[in-house]
Amino acid sequence: MCGIVGILGREPVAPSLIEALRRLEYRGYDSAGVATLEDGRLTRQRASGKLRNLEEKLAGAPLKGTIGIGHTRWATHGRPNEINAHPHANENVAVVHNGIIENFRELREELTKKGHVFVTQTDSEAVAHLVADFMREGATPQTAVASTLTRLKGAFALVFLFDGQDDLLIGARRGSPLAVGFGDGGAYLGSDALALAPFAREITYLEEDDWVVLTREKATFHNAAGNIVERPKRPLQAGSLMVDKGHFRHYMAKEMHEQPEVVGRTLAHYLDLASGTVRLPFELGFDAKALSRVTISACGTAFYAGLLARYWLERFARLSVDIDIASEFRYRESPLPEKGLMIVVSQSGETADTLAALRYARLQGQHILSIVNVETSTIARESDTVAHTLAGPEIGVASTKAFTCQLAVFACLALALGKARGVLSEKQERALVAELIATPGLMAEVLKDEARVEPVARDVARATSVLYLGRGPSYPLALEGALKLKELSYIHAEGYAAGELKHGPIALIDFAMPVIVLAPHDASLEKTVSNLQEVAARGGHLILVGPQSAKTAAAVELAGFIEMPETAAGPFAALVYALPAQLLAYHVAVFMGKDVDQPRNLAKSVTVE
Ligand code: F6R
Repeated sequence: MCGIVGILGREPVAPSLIEALRRLEYRGYDSAGVATLEDGRLTRQRASGKLRNLEEKLAGAPLKGTIGIGHTRWATHGRPNEINAHPHANENVAVVHNGIIENFRELREELTKKGHVFVTQTDSEAVAHLVADFMREGATPQTAVASTLTRLKGAFALVFLFDGQDDLLIGARRGSPLAVGFGDGGAYLGSDALALAPFAREITYLEEDDWVVLTREKATFHNAAGNIVERPKRPLQAGSLMVDKGHFRHYMAKEMHEQPEVVGRTLAHYLDLASGTVRLPFELGFDAKALSRVTISACGTAFYAGLLARYWLERFARLSVDIDIASEFRYRESPLPEKGLMIVVSQSGETADTLAALRYARLQGQHILSIVNVETSTIARESDTVAHTLAGPEIGVASTKAFTCQLAVFACLALALGKARGVLSEKQERALVAELIATPGLMAEVLKDEARVEPVARDVARATSVLYLGRGPSYPLALEGALKLKELSYIHAEGYAAGELKHGPIALIDFAMPVIVLAPHDASLEKTVSNLQEVAARGGHLILVGPQSAKTAAAVELAGFIEMPETAAGPFAALVYALPAQLLAYHVAVFMGKDVDQPRNLAKSVTVE
């Protein structure tokens, strides 16, 4: 993840920018840069590689400005070199950016036609030109940024420094975090509290779609509609921990809200965002064309990620998938195909049953590919190929961001295998990659409207039993939703394939048991709508998670409705629909006063059988 910092100081700010960037090094980066204003003019220094390369450059040619922005880049669009390093600048504005601008190609085309000259391969440069374009038409920095934000699609955080404006920085967030700090030495902006800890005494987090106009004396926050809004200041501990809760009440809440950023980051690791194609960061290490089948094993939420991936691997790579929970698989003595592929999935990389499944597959001569979050874990060390989920540390016991990152890796892997096996055409690949790239932005949209989940949660909290229904990729999601609810709130919950309703669970339907139907706009929507009607006909307590069109099509009385975007990432909708399932379980548990981050009897890493 890129790191962002901005400082309005009283002394030259370059050394402090470097200090703050050093505190963001843990996010990972491949180049760095700073920009300041000297005699009112934008000046910048950038370097590929480590911060010390940038420091060496600054030692030779110091930047003396007392206002500036800095960035550590973690390449998404374009190679990690000095040209692509941030800040990106033109004669009006310099910008640092974290995240993905989904519609950068269209913007680039439009702005090139208007005479803007692009010099980098990045998506971020389009933002700098767009702001400059508005300013050349007479906009002020504030109105130019406000107009620019309405044109951008995706999930991102941005900080702008303007030529000739030595008491002004503007920051904006959508999906990626950004905070304002206040201290004796000036005013600050940063990707997280950690970057600002040495300088700021108090901190304010921007809320979704906020943008802030920052001077040395004052921060003015605006919401998406452009209205001035108040945001609370909180004291900042000087020794702020690397992993803290930010402004969230629980780790789980913070981790759910990190998903647009970490899923974007994971996708960027497995896709070439600039060309809109798949590009795995490792050699497959086996002959994809010769594969007859894939075996997947994992536990709990990680198992559900595998169950969901089966739909993608079968559809996009035409590979049959054998999947089982690790505690069963390890004892099944399953015969595995010669030179077959075994995929194990684990956040911690230490789960005892998953490790045992891996070792069984090893003895059966399988190529072992693990999807893990902790790269140094035992499972990672014992694998032939490690596909890392770039979720960052997950502290909440209930897995959230690790799950969606596992899905992101699986989706990319399915496309890569489809390509390697000659199943997917280039056109199909690009269309599917475009759907994937849209997911962080859609996730941000869902998280913004979190408040919609609360009344539904209050209703579900009264239940003693809950049924989740879904079809296709929404079926594993129904299982995951039920798992989240039971582990956090201790309410009994079950997930079912919607088509199975008639084969038993329909007997449970009554006015008291919430039936939560996950109904994205996909090929099976019509059939899911029929299930909604079956439940309604029996006086069931229906809660729909889906787009307005599903509600209209069902035309039944609902006890609750969590409205979702109409088009949500096509075959990858599960990445977006995982969020309402998590949010609902979280809010039910909060409402019931449960220990959200450490539910009873559960451990984060299950290293015993
Ligand atoms: C549920 C949850 C667990 C884990 C399972 C596997 O929210 O977190 O079901 O998914 O214990 O753990 P890992 O992924 O570490 O192997």
